Amino acid sequence: MAVPRLLLAAALVLLLLAVGALPRGADAQLSAGFYSASCPAVHGVVRQVVSQAVMNDSRSGAAILRLFYHDCFVNGCDASVLLDDTPATPGEKGAGANAGGSTFGFDLIDAIKTQVEAACPGTVSCADILALAARDSVNLLGGPSWAVPLGRRDATFPNATGAATDLPGPGSDLDRLVAAFAAKGLTSRDLAALSGAHTVGMARCLSFRARAYCDDNVSPAFAAQMRGACPASGGDDAAAPLDAATPSEFDNGYYRNLVAGAGLLHSDQELFNNGPLDALVRLYSANGAAFSSDFAASMVRLGNVGPLTGSAGEVRLDCRKVNSS
Ligand code: HEM
Ligand SMILES: *[C@@H]1O[C@H](CO)[C@@H](O)[C@H](O)[C@H]1NC(C)=O
Ligand SMILES: *[C@@H]1O[C@H](CO)[C@@H](O)[C@H](O)[C@H]1NC(C)=O
Repeated sequence: MAVPRLLLAAALVLLLLAVGALPRGADAQLSAGFYSASCPAVHGVVRQVVSQAVMNDSRSGAAILRLFYHDCFVNGCDASVLLDDTPATPGEKGAGANAGGSTFGFDLIDAIKTQVEAACPGTVSCADILALAARDSVNLLGGPSWAVPLGRRDATFPNATGAATDLPGPGSDLDRLVAAFAAKGLTSRDLAALSGAHTVGMARCLSFRARAYCDDNVSPAFAAQMRGACPASGGDDAAAPLDAATPSEFDNGYYRNLVAGAGLLHSDQELFNNGPLDALVRLYSANGAAFSSDFAASMVRLGNVGPLTGSAGEVRLDCRKVNSS
């Protein structure tokens, strides 16, 4: 009698271990109160530095939000995107999706990190600072707020290959977008909600030229507007707002644009192009509260993608480089 019971118990333990090991993204063991004893000040410090930056230039909020997405999609939310190139390890900043981008996003993270280190030396990871700063950016630009699960640790190496392959480009069709999100454990509903981040910030001509001159699922007036902002050749860096009506307001204007055939990126308009996400886009375009609550929930899910926890990785002292190097 005792032996089978023991075997059963052992089998159960093995099963629980196996199940616990499976969902890297789904149950990441993060918690909103992670710093409540070790660094309660972190919340106020991050909020204050982001607030000053966003008041000075709303674009910095957009830059931080995008950085968080680019971090989480490459080896999980581990601040790998923040690492500068070294001779031995080319970083992620040179990858197409990050290049030519917003260096002031990196500078702002440095400014926050300096303040956080002054308050709580060696305690708060760069990955958690990025997650908090992304939430505060959204909220300070007029969007929702949410409790950010914390306890991420920082990567000790970047993944330049991952940055080149795992972030879909602006020419992507819907299948590619859905697959890229599924590869990170995110659903097409997450894709629809998180793409609403394109209610703030800018894109370069390089990113929407093909849409301006070649797409046919675009309103004629908006096509003319895009061509005015982006010559058929040259002027790659000319920038246009992703949501022209309210470029620095975190609202549901992005979805109203899509319904009107006025998405700036080809990948944006793919969400509303007689496909399976049309209904969600219509819902978000008509109901800002539904968008806000889905966006907040999806940001938490994005933040749960493959973090390092426990004693994995490290708490970097300088977000641009691994410790002791
Ligand atoms: C669904 C797939 C996505 C694609 C294909 C995509 C692509 C792009 C592209 C091409 C740009 C403009 C880059 C440039 O021309 O300089 C951009 C900007 C931006 N993206 Fe995305 N993106 C996607 C998803 C997301 C997500 C999930 C977020 C955040 C949750 C996000 C946040 C932003 C923000 C805030 C900007 C503006 C940045 C600035 O003004 O500096 N994007 N995106
Ligand atoms: C304010 O924004 C401008 C334009 O982005 C930038 O050049 C400047 O460094 C910012 N100043 C501060 C104090 O953040
Ligand atoms: C880098 O990212 C790629 C694509 O996701 C992945 O296959 C590879 O294992 C990653 N490399 C490292 C060292 O983590």
